[in-house]
Amino acid sequence: AQNRKESLFILMNFAKDHFQHLLWEEEEGKSIGLTYFRERGFTDESIKDFELGYSVEAWDHLLKTAEAKGYKRDLLEEAGLVVTKEGGKVYDRFRARVMFPIHNISGKVVAFGARMLGKDKKQPKYLNSPETELYNKSRVLYGLFQAKQEIRKEDRVYLVEGYTDVISMHQTGIKNVVSSSGTALTADQIKLIKRYTDNVTVIFDGDAAGIRASIRGIDMLLEGGLNVRAVALPDGEDPDSYARSLGATAFSHYIDEESQDIIRFKTKLFLKEASDDPVKRAALIKDIVRTITKIDDPVKRTVYLKECSDLLGISEQALVAEQNKLLIQKS
Ligand code: CTP
Ligand code: MN
Ligand code: MN
Ligand code: MN
Ligand code: MN
Repeated sequence: AQNRKESLFILMNFAKDHFQHLLWEEEEGKSIGLTYFRERGFTDESIKDFELGYSVEAWDHLLKTAEAKGYKRDLLEEAGLVVTKEGGKVYDRFRARVMFPIHNISGKVVAFGARMLGKDKKQPKYLNSPETELYNKSRVLYGLFQAKQEIRKEDRVYLVEGYTDVISMHQTGIKNVVSSSGTALTADQIKLIKRYTDNVTVIFDGDAAGIRASIRGIDMLLEGGLNVRAVALPDGEDPDSYARSLGATAFSHYIDEESQDIIRFKTKLFLKEASDDPVKRAALIKDIVRTITKIDDPVKRTVYLKECSDLLGISEQALVAEQNKLLIQKS
């Protein structure tokens, strides 16, 4: 099994080299893939740092190239690089897409994310490798390999939604940034973060629905014992688009100035939504207390309850009573 794993690593590295070669050296890759990356503002240095590539528009270009090099079909299939259709026809999984290799913590490629070009509405925008012996998506954070030294140095990690957000922020000089690739954070990913730092700043895309959906994941971070800050971007922006529109300096400034403690962030967000409906207000307040209860440290909880009491205009005793109710349920 160890040999098999090693073979998979070698094959994934070969595929990464192949997609890079197509991007930098071949006509289709240069005119479509490289142009795409450059037009969306990625520098050549970023494209190289993240080992981005291109897969050509053909059914079996990787399959044929790999087989000519002696890689066996079953290994290619196990790696998720080719797919066998009914009737036995084998074809490349990734075709006519720009390629984002996903690295493990030591920099070896374990999977690919692949973005479509153009606007074929029938296809998913991103196609990702399936789970394999090398790739368990709940245990990988995109960009961690490129970010880990800087995370230690800064003693903080920025958490963003997507591949392009990681690359653009890295390019503006904020290199301590990782992404959970569009899904909710897992306990394993939180453990991974904790190897490097206890401090996380979550950057939310600027749409209300997005914030409401991802704020649940915050409780996980708090339960993991992390100190969490948050910042929301203006409506319709993600870190990639906003870094591009503001430029590096102003973007860094925005993140520094606007980020705030997560409990304060959540409380203010809820105050905006709460209206005058007492039932709704009570439910939101309980939700905030529930989040505070995720924090293990009783001193921290006390500080937060005091602050929420001020912000919400509710007595501290009422909040403490609600907390104690929840703590009893938990034990
Ligand atoms: N994602 C995915 N599969 C999809 C859509 C999204 O895996 N069909 C993941 C990708 O990791 C993506 C992230 O979710 O980077 C965020 O999605 P989205 O915001 O839609 O994409 P962007 O990263 O903003 O990409 P782009 O700017 O190129 O549209
Ligand atoms: Mn660099
Ligand atoms: Mn999004
Ligand atoms: Mn985007
Ligand atoms: Mn996005």
